[in-house]
Amino acid sequence: MSPISLTAAVLLASILPSAIAHGGHGHVVSTVIFHRHGDRTPKLLGNTHLTPLGQSQLFDSGLFYRTRYITGNNHGVDISDLEEKTILTGRNEVNVYSPDEVTLGMSASSWASGFYDGAAPYSQLSDNTNVTSPVGDEVYAVLHSTPADYKDAIWLKGDDGCTASEKAAVSAYFDSVDFLKTEKSSATFYSSLKKFFPEDALAKLNELEGGLSFRNAYIIYDYLYFRTQYPTSDNTPTPSESELSQAKQLADQAEVALNKYDPKNKLSAISARTLLGRVTSLLEASIKSDFQTNRVTYLSGSYDTILSLFSILGLDGEQYKHIPEYGASFVFELLQDDDDDDDDDFDLRISFRNGTAESTSLKNLIEDEFDDLKEDWEEEGKLITSASQWCTLCNSDREFCALYDDRVVVEKAGVATLEGGKCKKESMNNANAGVIGAMVTLVVLGASLAAAWGLGFVAFGRRRKQEQAIGMGAVTKTVSYESSVAERV
Ligand SMILES: *[C@@H]1O[C@H](CO)[C@@H](O)[C@H](O)[C@H]1NC(C)=O
Ligand SMILES: *[C@@H]1O[C@H](CO)[C@@H](O)[C@H](O)[C@H]1NC(C)=O
Repeated sequence: MSPISLTAAVLLASILPSAIAHGGHGHVVSTVIFHRHGDRTPKLLGNTHLTPLGQSQLFDSGLFYRTRYITGNNHGVDISDLEEKTILTGRNEVNVYSPDEVTLGMSASSWASGFYDGAAPYSQLSDNTNVTSPVGDEVYAVLHSTPADYKDAIWLKGDDGCTASEKAAVSAYFDSVDFLKTEKSSATFYSSLKKFFPEDALAKLNELEGGLSFRNAYIIYDYLYFRTQYPTSDNTPTPSESELSQAKQLADQAEVALNKYDPKNKLSAISARTLLGRVTSLLEASIKSDFQTNRVTYLSGSYDTILSLFSILGLDGEQYKHIPEYGASFVFELLQDDDDDDDDDFDLRISFRNGTAESTSLKNLIEDEFDDLKEDWEEEGKLITSASQWCTLCNSDREFCALYDDRVVVEKAGVATLEGGKCKKESMNNANAGVIGAMVTLVVLGASLAAAWGLGFVAFGRRRKQEQAIGMGAVTKTVSYESSVAERV
């Protein structure tokens, strides 16, 4: 070999994916799929839900992954030893997670129906009779759903309730030169859209800060898109293709900016950081169980997390600067080397499917050694792997964060308020019941502090996220549970 071709070979080896570089081909042993919901009604009108079209999109996606991983007999992508029969008996291999919310929850169950499609589960009893599931071809998939204010919600929507990122990333964008410039230059365009909004929709839009303007670029586009897809009974005209596309461009611009990763800002792309943390933990759990659990995990989420993922993974081509299609999915596949089953070196292959149309393929984006990727992400601060880490970073008002706060929590916790040294009960909301146990202790501690300070003194004001040192170096902190930013789904 000439020195030149040797250099070329070394160079080539260094850029080839490691699965090929270390000889064998890999096969999938576990996978995590982060999925956007399907077609739905617009956010603006409230009571948002998945449409039958959205249900079939997600069902089709379930079929797509079923073929890929189970029935396709496609070596390299089917999940070894994961058989239809075993997943049907409801073991621990397949898990579906969704926020406790209609659009994402129904997307998850539609996907699961596709994934389990067509095989009636049955048990054969010892007398040889068969008991078949009463729902025929349908299967009872086990869905794990998490209310927005519970700890596990951060793995699916790590941006919601992250007070510090709402302040640092979101408000900073709305104050930026870029934003203000576009807001100004698009003002005429936005006022020209007024005719497409019936009165009730316009009234709802005007309740939002900024109303019919660039500030609400996504929610406006989202509404107009729905109007062009479905017939309407009012006399409002329908926007033209070019009007819709301009509204989309503006929405893309705003959302890409809002969800961008900035290495200097630990709060940027926060939902991608929690998601990457979740993905690595799930895959590690699967390895640890020797592939008895967590072989297929479906996580239901939103486009903003997908945009943040593009950005945090360093994908900066033009195609990544747009809101993905309904039913888009981000896939993290753990690959084991074919030649060496005992090998602990796994590869991670990250791919993306931009929607659910049959013609849409799953495209590979990144493939590298799992441990190396994880190490890099850890070093760069891109992984959030615990709720306490999230709570601290986000300085979050979510109730569960009180559990990770070693300071005294006194007021506005929906539990008790200290007033004039007396403990006054406030109305208790069921959702808060979970943290009350922990808080009671803290409140009692707060009460004794108040006593020590002299009865009749303490009247903590409503101080959001403000800390105040009192007596003995103790600190009080106000907890409230309103979320200041509308969820983007
Ligand atoms: C029960 O179902 C299995 C699988 O389809 C079949 O092989 C078996 O013969 C059935 N038994 C009876 C009693 O129908
Ligand atoms: C997904 O499709 C949309 C068109 O709906 C496009 O704008 C976007 O660039 C695509 N994203 C990727 C990553 O291909």
